[in-house]
Amino acid sequence: MAETFYLTTAIHYPNGRPHIGHAYETIAADVLARFHRQMGREVRFQTGTDEHGLKMAQKSRDLGQTPRELADEMSGYFKDLFATLDISYDRFIRTTDEDHYRASQAIWKAMEANGDLYLDRYEGWYSIRDEAYYDESELIEGEGGEKLSPQGTPVEWTAEETWFFRLSAYGDKLLKLYEDNPDFIRPESRRNEVMRFVEGGLRDLSVSRTSFDWGVPVPGSDGHVMYVWVDALTNYLTGLGYPDETENMAKFWPADLHLVGKDITRFHTVYWPAFLMSANIPVPRQVYAHGFLLNKGQKESKSLGNVTDPADLVNAYGVDVLRYFLLREFSFGQDGSYSAQAIVSRANSELANSFGNLAQRTLSLLFKNCEGQLPPINDATADDDALRQHVERVIVQEMPAAFTDLAFAQALEAWMGAVFACNAYVDAQAPWALKKTDPERMKTVLATLYICIAQLAVAVIPVMPASMGKLLEQMGITPDLRRFDAIRTHWYPALVDSNFHLEKPQGIFPRLELPETPSEESA
Ligand code: ME8
Ligand code: MG
Repeated sequence: MAETFYLTTAIHYPNGRPHIGHAYETIAADVLARFHRQMGREVRFQTGTDEHGLKMAQKSRDLGQTPRELADEMSGYFKDLFATLDISYDRFIRTTDEDHYRASQAIWKAMEANGDLYLDRYEGWYSIRDEAYYDESELIEGEGGEKLSPQGTPVEWTAEETWFFRLSAYGDKLLKLYEDNPDFIRPESRRNEVMRFVEGGLRDLSVSRTSFDWGVPVPGSDGHVMYVWVDALTNYLTGLGYPDETENMAKFWPADLHLVGKDITRFHTVYWPAFLMSANIPVPRQVYAHGFLLNKGQKESKSLGNVTDPADLVNAYGVDVLRYFLLREFSFGQDGSYSAQAIVSRANSELANSFGNLAQRTLSLLFKNCEGQLPPINDATADDDALRQHVERVIVQEMPAAFTDLAFAQALEAWMGAVFACNAYVDAQAPWALKKTDPERMKTVLATLYICIAQLAVAVIPVMPASMGKLLEQMGITPDLRRFDAIRTHWYPALVDSNFHLEKPQGIFPRLELPETPSEESA
């Protein structure tokens, strides 16, 4: 039976249209899903929208809609965007889905049965934008002297009777979880932050509300809806069929990876494992908190007028260029800043000029000088072997290790290093000149490059599935070979012996121009 891998993104608030941060997180998750599939694992990948809570209730009221109407409209935009971005999810969950109510109520009852829920009066600060409770001591002062959350969002005083979760009872268990599983929270900086927070002592958590009704009803407690984070986190179980003992639960729980942004680390590494322990359900293996994307150093916001629709970036540069750029440019755990210039220069230097040109030059020479027939390899030289070994080391060791570790930039740097080595080899061997002087040697050089290009293309399918599919199709590399292990083997002689005939090659990465836009000029 194949090894399994269950990964999830955060579920997105559909109180507005998707932004670059949503695209970034979901693309990274998709690359991992495709990578693990390509390694032969049985993968399940879930994303979706988080539709309850005060934020949705308030936003829809402002727009004169019901929360359901707002959620329907906006979650449609998320789905459309994910189709545009080639996201290969297995389930797009909406927390208004019927099975999700059932799962949320089941985990509630399990926590209640464990004695961890009680009714009491809550009085304290709440941020609707963050959907989070804060201690007085955590608040900061705004420019006008008003109180703000540590994230800089407005807070309001809340006083009502609510259900509480006995979070205070889980401090030691959580600390033991972090100690025993050093990789439970990554990267290290977030782990340290969370450990300090838990060591500081945990207070019980208010987990229901009575002042509005846009949420999952608390079972057996009229007038209470669950705190939105209780139901939101449960989505990861809903998607596997919880509370039923389904085949998917047996195969995929505990989740291998929850991929989230750094602002929601606490919910995933403190509240969520505590809820699960209380409900007697195993905790996930890893939570990875990635960094934030900024637009030329600034947070995108309506007031700054710099909000970018990720679909516009796809229209301007192409989906695979965007996917490649986002993972190549930034160290995944850290914040990063993007701009049109950075996308265009990365795409031109690495995709168009380096890899694209390598493939186009090689295939064109084979098309013209060998009539589209793939030549066999005769008498490989030390240079040929050195190149083959370099590429092989990258695709067999360096890239799989880096992808497994979510070190995307490192994986792609190793890839680029191998592409540079191929280009240096082309320049040194000058196969175009060999046509007259040593045609047999020319054939061996082109065959060597052909193998390397196919291997390097397969290695970046997870990042650029459409472009690499197009290239590999032209090269006669069938889907069964498009795996890390299969592309290492001796497929080349069989392809030479088959009836495969190379057609006139089509380029995959055009050179990009920097678009002239008003926002670029004023920047
Ligand atoms: O937090 N750069 O939803 P959300 C990178 N519904 N990532 C970003 C980002 C940016 N500029 N802005 C946001 C929620 N994100 C909850 C999650 S999970 C059970 C519930 C990330 O729509 C953010 O960190 O505000 C989060 O991981 C995801 O986008 C959705 O954010
Ligand atoms: Mg947010």
